[in-house]
Amino acid sequence: MSRLLGHVILLGAPGVGKGTQAKLLAEDTGLPHLSTGDMLRASVSSGTEMGRLAKAVMESGALVSDEVILGIVAERLRAEDAQNGVIFDGFPRTVKQAEGLDSLLRDLHGVGIAKVIRISLDADEIVRRLSGRRVCRACGAIYHVLYHPPRQEGICDLCGGQLEQRPDDQPSVIRHRLAVYEAETSPLVDYYRHLPGYAEVDGQGETEQVRERIRLTLGLKE
Ligand code: AP5
Repeated sequence: MSRLLGHVILLGAPGVGKGTQAKLLAEDTGLPHLSTGDMLRASVSSGTEMGRLAKAVMESGALVSDEVILGIVAERLRAEDAQNGVIFDGFPRTVKQAEGLDSLLRDLHGVGIAKVIRISLDADEIVRRLSGRRVCRACGAIYHVLYHPPRQEGICDLCGGQLEQRPDDQPSVIRHRLAVYEAETSPLVDYYRHLPGYAEVDGQGETEQVRERIRLTLGLKE
């Protein structure tokens, strides 16, 4: 287990591998994985008021409001297991969310941001990865029909749950999500670039290769 203390932010366009790498990094560091997308999808599945409001926004590829997102992150960061840091996946997504996170961390008087890792990948590969993605309805494990197929088609290797395609992985929605990323999220690169913990990692190549690059960047590997 790692000596890493502080929050890690995985930044990058939809489909670059944030969720895949965040799960592996959680195993490598013992820090919990905080995916705002997974939290919103859980609210949609359980039919809460927030889930009902978020569903249409997510299916269109737009962003859920900064207030809602900052509210769920604030609550999660107060939990006992978040006190040494978390792996942020899909958050922050706007400059307003990044400013909100800074202010939240000041108020909590706990650990700060240890590392911001921007994962980059070319647009054609992003579309290939998103259009072939399948996700376990029960446990959230991530597969790809070509790059990381399950042993039995449509069934999760880990829990036996049904695999499904996310509604926002349709080609027209993917295009919209990429445009939203350029407009709303890519300015965060300039927001974080000056931090000593900022790093860029190439997302091309096999999952294990990208994992090794991230481990090296974090000093988890000699
Ligand atoms: P969210 O769930 O955060 O989606 P995203 O950011 O669009 O990212 P993805 O989950 O699509 O991609 P990823 O980078 O995690 O890639 P993955 O590892 O799965 O957000 C969904 C929606 O929720 C948003 O559109 C918005 O509406 C809302 N939302 C969430 N957070 C919000 C926020 N903070 N503010 C406002 N709204 C918010 O990999 C993709 C595929 O590639 C998989 O099939 C995987 O198996 C495969 N793969 C991964 N790595 C490799 C590799 N190295 N080689 C080959 N295949 C690979």
